[in-house]
Amino acid sequence: MALKKATGKDKELQDRLLADGAIPQHIAIIMDGNGRWAKRRGMPRIAGHREGVNAVRDIVETCGQLGVKFLTLYAFSTENWKRPGDEVSMLMRLLLKALRDERDRLHQNEVRLKAIGNISALPQDVQDELLEAIDLMRNNTGLTLVLALSYSGRWDITNAVRKIHEDATAGKIAREQITEELFDTYLSTKEFPDPDLLIRTSGELRISNFLLWQLAYSEMYISPDFWPDFRRKSLYKAVSEYQKRERRFGMTSEQVRHTSSRGTKYFERLLKGVAKP
Ligand code: FPP
Repeated sequence: MALKKATGKDKELQDRLLADGAIPQHIAIIMDGNGRWAKRRGMPRIAGHREGVNAVRDIVETCGQLGVKFLTLYAFSTENWKRPGDEVSMLMRLLLKALRDERDRLHQNEVRLKAIGNISALPQDVQDELLEAIDLMRNNTGLTLVLALSYSGRWDITNAVRKIHEDATAGKIAREQITEELFDTYLSTKEFPDPDLLIRTSGELRISNFLLWQLAYSEMYISPDFWPDFRRKSLYKAVSEYQKRERRFGMTSEQVRHTSSRGTKYFERLLKGVAKP
């Protein structure tokens, strides 16, 4: 099984991006604007969600081609349960259909599927399809696609605190062992690095209870496009903008230039507090 390659003008654009700088290892996206996209066209909201699936397909394929390692999509938030019942159930049907329709293509493209969130709150058929797809793709070595479903950052943090309390009460961890690094290991994202780039579509300037802990030092990019219009060219713009940023992680420009010249591994150790600037 092999990844479908970019061709023609698109390949040229990708090659330029690859030559221009580092590709973010982890991109997280708040897919927003489906409803407004539909309303503008005098269509029902679900039409926007449907077209949103086409955008997901294009962005997943493009991320794989660019060598992005992790892509986290905010597909359904804890708060989205408060939407009108018929929109929620249509969204669940759409998710089920997308999982069924896309499963083989994703697998062929070496995608490893993962999910974060309160998965047990999803309808049983969605859970079954999701877990089956995750299992099918578990050994794939391409892009890791993380679907955030019935997810919120506060839910994640609260869960982590509960589990830490449980382990502390059972005597498995001591108070002094509770550090940021340990806390990380109790979050639903424990096997993924923090996002390098957060993209939000439709021009809104909010985090909306997404990866609250994990986004501490992510670069943000706000796209004016509604999600259904967000295709690979919009992604190239976001990555190109990211490549122009200087990530300082609270340090000075001089320190960053000095440390990055000492290599990525050293920089990672520095961030974890293992190495000194
Ligand atoms: C936000 O737009 C979008 C959602 C709440 C759902 C996103 C779902 C999809 C793109 C389809 C399924 C996803 C996958 C991963 C297959 P909105 O409804 O808030 O738009 P608005 O702000 O314009 O009302």
